[in-house]
Amino acid sequence: MKDWKNIYPTKFVTAAEAVGHIHSNDKVVFTHACGESQCLTNALVEQADRLENVEIIHMVAMGTAPYCQPDMSKHFRHNAVFVGGSTRKAVEEGRADFTPVFFSELPNYFRTGLIPIDVALLQLSVPDENGNCSFGISVDYTQSAAETAKLKIAQINKNMPYTYGNSINIKDLDYIVCKDEPLIELQPPKIGETERKIGEYVASLIEDGYTLQLGIGAIPDAVLSFLGDKKDLGIHSEMFSDGVVDLANKGVITNVKKNIDNGKFVANFLMGTRKLYDFVDHNPDVLMKPVDYTNDPFVVAQIDHIVCINSAMQVDLMGQVNAEMIGPRQFSGVGGQVDFVRGAARSKGGKAIIAMPSTTSHGKISKICANLDPGAAVTTSRNDVDYIVTEYGIAALKGKSLRQRAAALIKIAHPDFQIGLMQEFEKRFLCRFKE
Ligand code: COA
Repeated sequence: MKDWKNIYPTKFVTAAEAVGHIHSNDKVVFTHACGESQCLTNALVEQADRLENVEIIHMVAMGTAPYCQPDMSKHFRHNAVFVGGSTRKAVEEGRADFTPVFFSELPNYFRTGLIPIDVALLQLSVPDENGNCSFGISVDYTQSAAETAKLKIAQINKNMPYTYGNSINIKDLDYIVCKDEPLIELQPPKIGETERKIGEYVASLIEDGYTLQLGIGAIPDAVLSFLGDKKDLGIHSEMFSDGVVDLANKGVITNVKKNIDNGKFVANFLMGTRKLYDFVDHNPDVLMKPVDYTNDPFVVAQIDHIVCINSAMQVDLMGQVNAEMIGPRQFSGVGGQVDFVRGAARSKGGKAIIAMPSTTSHGKISKICANLDPGAAVTTSRNDVDYIVTEYGIAALKGKSLRQRAAALIKIAHPDFQIGLMQEFEKRFLCRFKE
């Protein structure tokens, strides 16, 4: 299969030439998060004047999202399946859309045309000896977008790590742009005292040999900082970050107890610094798979003792979790939260943890509330919810009545808000709140 070497150079074009094949009204999928091809994004936006109503579909935008600027609204319309910092204003101002979907199901939406797509803008590793390029740090929905799109344009970048478990052959690409540029990086978050306390509580629910799914941010990193004395932990996550590399190097994460994908770090996308990207490059212990594998609740369910750690905007006294909206404003999305909550529920010894500070907005708002804000969605239902953790402790909600849940949640609310919540408890359950 060496004939790919003859074909390879025939596909080389400049970024401007490549995106010149995109037309008005096309639906274009970008590689997710830190895997986005910045050179193709910029080339597309530079050609805005000849384009109208190009739909740009992706999950978290970690780049600057220039297509979301107000003066771009005639040319591009972003369809977010998870709202990020650089796209939030456009969604709020009605210049971009949000489509709710479980992360695990997105690849199938592309394949079946529930979300139709025309073009995939990819960023890939350099090809191996068989002409296979790796999707590197973003396999997630990107691989299915690449399989489904009629037009496949790829930036090949030597800085994109070669990861195992995924690939696309040079022959299957239409246009190739060779450009080496640094990948988008996510710096480790600052961990404050609140996150540290939450991390300590969450770590108390994790035992030797358990497998972890981690969300993004300070809390997952704080949890990792309390796991230094554990043994043989595993990773099966939608993503992981630099914190996992430190624990792997210390020999704490070995993956040897995992009952599927034994010995492997499993994820579908990665966000971190060059340290992380170098760790996964040609690393046979890292398996990067599409999200319809990693997040499939039926796959997650097969992993004994999986502990899933995610966060939320607010939790009401019934245990309903809103992880994505501030009132009617779409702040983020469901991501993989429910995929993993559902999978953990069926895993032998599985635990699903929602960990969050007890307050937000400098202590002015309690994240444990009587009712979710009007207009907010329920991300994880009260039937699925398992553990809620704040800096004041752990509320284990499964099997508890509404009255018991409310009491458990009030105990881990910030003391400044407990009296108001107790009054609500007494009104709702017609009995005294007891410690
Ligand atoms: N009421 C009003 N505002 C709230 C709020 C509440 N109950 N909770 C949070 N906010 C505001 C904060 O004040 C902050 O505003 P700022 O940016 O102006 O400072 C903002 O929302 C973000 O809050 P923060 O607590 O810093 O969020 P985070 O970065 O820790 O992310 C989630 C938390 C829930 C948004 C994030 O985990 C997420 O998007 N989850 C999606 C679902 C999921 O868990 N998926 C799996 C991983 S993808």
